[in-house]
Amino acid sequence: MTQVEREAMAPALQAANLGHHYGQHHVLRDITFDVSAGEFVCIVGPSGVGKTTLLRCLSGLQPPTEGSVRVYGAPIAGPPRGLALVFQDYSRSLLPWGSVIDNVALPLRSGGMRKKQATDAARAALHEVGLGGIDPSAYPWQLSGGMQQRVAIARALAYQPSIVLMDEPFASVDAQTRADLEDLIRRLQVDLGLTVTHVTHDIDEAVYLADRIVALAGSPAGIAEVVHVGLGPVRDQVETKLLPRFAELRAYVYRLIRGARQGRVRESGT
Ligand SMILES: Nc1ncnc2c1ncn2[C@@H]1O[C@H](COP(=O)(O)OP(=O)(O)OP(=O)(O)O)[C@@H](O)[C@H]1O
Ligand SMILES: [Mg+2]
Repeated sequence: MTQVEREAMAPALQAANLGHHYGQHHVLRDITFDVSAGEFVCIVGPSGVGKTTLLRCLSGLQPPTEGSVRVYGAPIAGPPRGLALVFQDYSRSLLPWGSVIDNVALPLRSGGMRKKQATDAARAALHEVGLGGIDPSAYPWQLSGGMQQRVAIARALAYQPSIVLMDEPFASVDAQTRADLEDLIRRLQVDLGLTVTHVTHDIDEAVYLADRIVALAGSPAGIAEVVHVGLGPVRDQVETKLLPRFAELRAYVYRLIRGARQGRVRESGT
């Protein structure tokens, strides 16, 4: 089997025995899970448990102090190509002095892309996130919070990533905008065949979005359980949330996080 064939068969993202210390502070221990290509995995856990630390390690921005991260089977030693990140705080991640189109196109330009090609890719990405109709010379601060987060998502998509990592990307917007952005990201995941790993402390959001949920608990945090959601590919904000399985999963994950016995790692259909 060739290297290329091996990589094609490997999971998109893999954490193996990943642990992290900040100095003496042991935050994560023995985290092992895979994300298959095209899968939507949510990482949930209470505030301060280590979700952002885990996502930063998965992204290659921060080397874990133990274990490893592989992308398509290859160990990473920095942010790999084809992986994009979306953060919670769009107001800090967008450049206030750049127009909307510049914010999406500039990272492509600094990656060596020609101006015309970068602008075309930026326009296409803005269209993809439902901002095709806005004035691209507007500044981010002239847009609503939800629209700014769409710009941040467009900036991630403009790279044409195969893997998108998101850290609480909808935490700063109102409930209706949040629901719209959840549906946007699921549609993009299906339409573009993206592999998504999405961190949230919101259990309802995790159940609504995910194919599988990685529940973190404890201190140092480990995986309490990997839960198969099994709600099918099509989700609806009203219908899906009325399903008995949705309510069951929500209660199940809530109890896992609140009352997890540490050291258990298993796959479950609940
Ligand atoms: N750069 C850092 N240096 C030292 N300690 C850190 C650093 N970043 C995070 N920590 C500590 O690691 C622990 C986990 O933090 P982390 O931000 O990963 O949690 P989180 O689950 O993302 O929390 P939240 O839900 O509030 O975003 C916390 O105790 C935090 O204080
Ligand atoms: Mg965090």
